[in-house]
Amino acid sequence: MNAAGLYQSLVRPLLFALSPEAAHNLAIRNLRAASNWPVAHRQLERFRPVPKPTTVFGLTFPNPIGLAAGFDKNGVAIPAWAALGFGFVEVGTVTAKPQPGNPKPRIFRYPEQEALINRLGFNNDGADAVAARLGALRESPEGVRGWPAIPVGINLGKSKVTPFEEAVEDYLYSFRLLAPLADYVVLNVSSPNTPGLRSLQEHNALKQLLGAVRSANERTQRPVLLKIAPDLSVADLEQIITTSEQNGIAGIIATNTTVDHSAIPGSLDQTGGLSGRPLREKSTQIIRAIRARSQLPIIASGGISDAASAREKLAAGAQLIQVYTGYVYRGPGLLREIAEGL
Ligand SMILES: Cc1cc2nc3c(=O)[nH]c(=O)nc-3n(C[C@H](O)[C@H](O)[C@H](O)COP(=O)(O)O)c2cc1C
Repeated sequence: MNAAGLYQSLVRPLLFALSPEAAHNLAIRNLRAASNWPVAHRQLERFRPVPKPTTVFGLTFPNPIGLAAGFDKNGVAIPAWAALGFGFVEVGTVTAKPQPGNPKPRIFRYPEQEALINRLGFNNDGADAVAARLGALRESPEGVRGWPAIPVGINLGKSKVTPFEEAVEDYLYSFRLLAPLADYVVLNVSSPNTPGLRSLQEHNALKQLLGAVRSANERTQRPVLLKIAPDLSVADLEQIITTSEQNGIAGIIATNTTVDHSAIPGSLDQTGGLSGRPLREKSTQIIRAIRARSQLPIIASGGISDAASAREKLAAGAQLIQVYTGYVYRGPGLLREIAEGL
């Protein structure tokens, strides 16, 4: 049996016997251990797709398939993601202050729909701890345990305890610490699980945030991307594109999870953001709408679970794609399947 088949028939049933969060933590613990263990890299490299380099916003990606934010929130397994063959990895969401997130349970599986609902609420170690970890990785000698040969993005969000009026300062704190360590930075204004966060997508708030980050970025000069929700009106989206273009945003990540749960039977529904297959079409429509109005680079995220859904995103106008829920259901063989089908 090949390595991809082994995931489907053996590893996934074992992981799915655990609660979603326990399975996630087990996977992260193993990948963290593998990151420090060169022998394990050779096993992980069996999943690696053939290189297909592409250059977007000044960075070269060995292939266009990345790991979406939220999988490795604290950046503990970066060398392992590179060994598995990701073309880039996005760490975070990181907030200025460490925070525990919402009470458990807070991740729910819907295997029939190949979907997840999560309301984690940005559980993470905080900007100081993540900066220390990534700083050490940057300084460690090159090689399998060190900084990888793929771009690493860092996704930033607002601390829950920070009042809305102080949101900009909160982002700036994380930006100043983490931007120098990142290849690109993402401003996440689209998680449904931090009260008020998505109102940062509104015109005045967004203008303030992007303007402040632009000034802070004069020294660091990193590509700064904006990650948006799939639940925006056309008018909101147009406003966001204009504000992004006026403030030096290097690209848009479209999209985060949705608050539209119509694909989930009411009796099984949970509060949170829905990801996976039911999000695919909605998020592709957002990509088309952006591309119809702008030449900004787009990273597609939302319901990519095979080569066809990946091709759909690129045809809609994206340059790069990211996977999360599809990777949970399909496993590490997904990368090669997508890369071969592009
Ligand atoms: C359990 C879980 C946690 C997530 N955490 C984050 C996060 O911290 N920051 C973020 O920007 N997106 C987060 N996301 C959203 C994903 O990065 C992605 O944009 C979304 O799930 C859509 O892609 P998918 O359908 O391939 O999962 C999370 C998604 C899931 C399922």
